[in-house]
Amino acid sequence: MPRVDYTTFDLHPMTMTLGAEIHGVDLGLEVAEDQFNEIRRAFTEFSVIFFRDQHLTPDQHIAFASRWGEINVNRFFKAIDSHPVIAEVRKEPDQETNIGGSWHTDHSYDQVPATGSILYARQVPEIGGDTQFASMYAAYDGLSDGLKRMLEPLRATHSSRHAFGRTAYRIQQYSDDVGDRLGNPDAATQDADHPVVIQHPLSGRKALYVNPGFTIRFSGWSDEESRPLLEYLYRQATKPEYTCRFHWQKNSLALWDNRATWHQALNDYPGQRRLMHRITIEGVPLE
Ligand code: OGA
Ligand code: MN
Repeated sequence: MPRVDYTTFDLHPMTMTLGAEIHGVDLGLEVAEDQFNEIRRAFTEFSVIFFRDQHLTPDQHIAFASRWGEINVNRFFKAIDSHPVIAEVRKEPDQETNIGGSWHTDHSYDQVPATGSILYARQVPEIGGDTQFASMYAAYDGLSDGLKRMLEPLRATHSSRHAFGRTAYRIQQYSDDVGDRLGNPDAATQDADHPVVIQHPLSGRKALYVNPGFTIRFSGWSDEESRPLLEYLYRQATKPEYTCRFHWQKNSLALWDNRATWHQALNDYPGQRRLMHRITIEGVPLE
């Protein structure tokens, strides 16, 4: 049953914690203001929203993304030839490594992390290639009051060096297999520092803001001191009941919130091709 408090489209929640599918919206048209406001409300409430059967040209994809804010051009992803603001997330049949294949939050290595991304499926494998999302509201809410209090004043350091920098490329298999899909390793030099618990800029809710992809340590702590607690938080954050899983079809579109979710792309479709177009939206500093 669709939710009755969304009236300009049908909204179907995927789990109790996050994710909703929206039916009855054509993103290729100019979305009316009242419908856009409901899409924004759904994004705030469910943290990741999905649309099916969208038929978008790159310009229509850009037009929808521009309704959310400025576009952030990711400095590591290869862009499509015709539109430098659209990044390509591609895996060829003969490639082994996929992009985003373990839990992470995009752009936490930036001091002003991107709001989220709009990922549009151009070609999908017949079987496999799903994406999982995890709710960082649920991850935070599930902690004890004692641990919440302990984490509250902490900050953490995030980096892109190990993922996109020169060290990542020194791993030979990585550079051969992923090297033509990512680039610009010399831009992976800056680190960022964020609160471990953020107050979400849209919902006002508290969310856990560390992630296995890019968080290096608690700021002011050593790596060794940080690791056990970070690992505990990472295990806690991926409890199955805090997650949802999206099965892509050609022309599906997802919009996720980096401040409230993690995601990972399953790498379970050897020999098949998967091609997604991604546009990323600029964010705000986190507090
Ligand atoms: C990304 C990413 C997931 C996927 O684009 O940031 O992690 O399923 N993609 O392709
Ligand atoms: Mn990602």
